[in-house]
Amino acid sequence: MKPIEIKKDIFWLGAIDWNLRDFHGYSTEKGSTYNAYLVMGEKKALFDTVKAEFADEFIRDIKSVLGERKLDYIISNHAEMDHSGALPAVMESFHPDKIIVTKAGQDALNRHFHGNNRPFELIKEGDELSLGDKTVQFYGSAMIHWPESMISLLREYRVLISNDIFGQHWATSERFADEVDQGELHWQAAKYYANIFLPTSPAVKKFLEKLEVKGLQYDMVAPDHGLIWRNNLTEIMKAYKAWSNWETKPKAIVIYDTMWESTAKMARAIMHGLSGEGVSARLFDLRTNHRSDIMTELLDARAVILGSSILNSGILPKMADMITYMKGLRPTNKIGASFGSYGWKNTITKMLNEQLEEMKIELADEGISVQYVPEENDLRKCFELGQKIRNMILAK
Ligand code: FEO
Repeated sequence: MKPIEIKKDIFWLGAIDWNLRDFHGYSTEKGSTYNAYLVMGEKKALFDTVKAEFADEFIRDIKSVLGERKLDYIISNHAEMDHSGALPAVMESFHPDKIIVTKAGQDALNRHFHGNNRPFELIKEGDELSLGDKTVQFYGSAMIHWPESMISLLREYRVLISNDIFGQHWATSERFADEVDQGELHWQAAKYYANIFLPTSPAVKKFLEKLEVKGLQYDMVAPDHGLIWRNNLTEIMKAYKAWSNWETKPKAIVIYDTMWESTAKMARAIMHGLSGEGVSARLFDLRTNHRSDIMTELLDARAVILGSSILNSGILPKMADMITYMKGLRPTNKIGASFGSYGWKNTITKMLNEQLEEMKIELADEGISVQYVPEENDLRKCFELGQKIRNMILAK
């Protein structure tokens, strides 16, 4: 897509990856974008690049803005390959004087692209870079979400180039967050947070506090993925505050996989007990729902209930996948329970409870297991488990 001037002398350029469907296990069903920004001050500075496969069109777009003028600086806010992949090609085409980067960023770039003869200039928290008529201020944002992550404030322009934070994986021709459907925008921003930033929530919280304490002045937030925030900045800041504080709603999610529908019957009975005014409940069969969409629902849920049958003495593979993924994302401030059917060894709730406890999810109940096929009495117990968790949710 052709470059767009998002504020005077600041150009969005980047790549729209319409076909991306998987971002290391995160389902990007609507693609993504890799945003870079070219600032045409007295000095010309490019903030980040794009994935290597888009290098040619990216270089073409930089040339279309730069014309015969020289690119003075590349600011590398983040070394992950979706933002640095095209860096070697851009260096070769434009020979900027400096790559501005943190020490950790320099080390990461050298480990990605090997060799150490690039014109790095190291900066740290609070440092400034003059573009002649304009100033860039740098702020470390370590562990949101890599150790070397950095954000840049274009002080006179009042634009915060925020790197990954505040992004969304969503390919669109629109560039601003106020130009798209707001419900979908919220979902995509929440999905992005749940699947990328959730495990580093304490760092996000600290970072948000830093923005406030330092009194950074900005009226536009330009992330490295998805849409740029301007008119609805307050909403995204409010959402990030809630997510990074692990705030929950009266909501429960039931996640299960099943062999012969016994565990599915139990799941539906639990849902029946959970449902009713005041509690929002969602049911996810792992055969038809993607782990990253489930994580999005889990983000603000107060309770999570896991169900599986036993296969070869273990839990079903799709549940094992879900648990591995969930564990890495460290959901916090939840209550939980387990259920499932078994054939000859009654260990399903023990296995699932151990996983929940490892995730520091408070067990609301010891769980319910049923041999082979649940009878009416078993389903009544499942219903009661749902009711019990419902009451606990309402009491919190
Ligand atoms: Fe979008 Fe951490 O890279």
